Amino acid sequence: MKENVQQILDHFHIEQFQHDLIHWFVKEQRDLPWRKEKDPYKIWVSEVMLQQTRVDTVIPYFYKFIEKFPTLDALAEAEEKEVLKAWEGLRYYSRIRNLHAAVKEVKEKYDGCVPASKEQFSSLKGVGPYTTGAVLSIAYDIPEPAVDGNVMRVLSRIFYITDDIAKGSTRKKFEQLVSCIIAHDNPSDFNQALMELGALICTPKSPSCFLCPVQRHCRAFAEGAEGKLPVKTKGKAPKHVSFRAIVGTGGRVRCSIF
Ligand code: ADE
Repeated sequence: MKENVQQILDHFHIEQFQHDLIHWFVKEQRDLPWRKEKDPYKIWVSEVMLQQTRVDTVIPYFYKFIEKFPTLDALAEAEEKEVLKAWEGLRYYSRIRNLHAAVKEVKEKYDGCVPASKEQFSSLKGVGPYTTGAVLSIAYDIPEPAVDGNVMRVLSRIFYITDDIAKGSTRKKFEQLVSCIIAHDNPSDFNQALMELGALICTPKSPSCFLCPVQRHCRAFAEGAEGKLPVKTKGKAPKHVSFRAIVGTGGRVRCSIF
């Protein structure tokens, strides 16, 4: 039988773990453009861009996007054509359409202030549990979990959790776990440190366990099992992609994916 969260946390030194993780993050974090200030709008844009796109690819797009739309109001007032142009090349165009619709709602309903309430923010278009946790914790220091695939990999190793990370119930379990271990005095650094650990040290292949700031807490390392985790089945087939427009242009045919 699978363990519940309280059983998993038996004998785990939460405060020592928080300290080791955050101390490392403060010293070793990458200098990334969205880490320079705590503007919730900019954090939100960065998190939408970072979903399924590598940090190195996102950086130039982030600069260009923020230069063109420096505030939430500027994005809300922009024409969709201009917004899509600034996103061109990042793919996943439904994400930017949703973000555009969501910021318009924020401008109208909340006077342009990104809501710090979980219920209000998560009800906006395109905003799921990960984006909610990331924006509320990083921008507002609200202790909400931000669990993506990288964070599940890190935590599956630290706690030696063998549940299938392709399942929604496993993500929920990791969210419960993070809710129990998140540093209430610094949720922003805590969540970003888990993301950073997954990017720099606790990588999918050949993790750098000997450089890991939380090695002494890691149950998979203790058993030499880090290479077997996380457990992930193939999961669902990829989403169907629809072709919406085929436009004839003087003898040539252009085809766009939306
Ligand atoms: N991946 C997702 N969110 C991130 C963030 N805020 N910083 C670095 N990598 C990330």
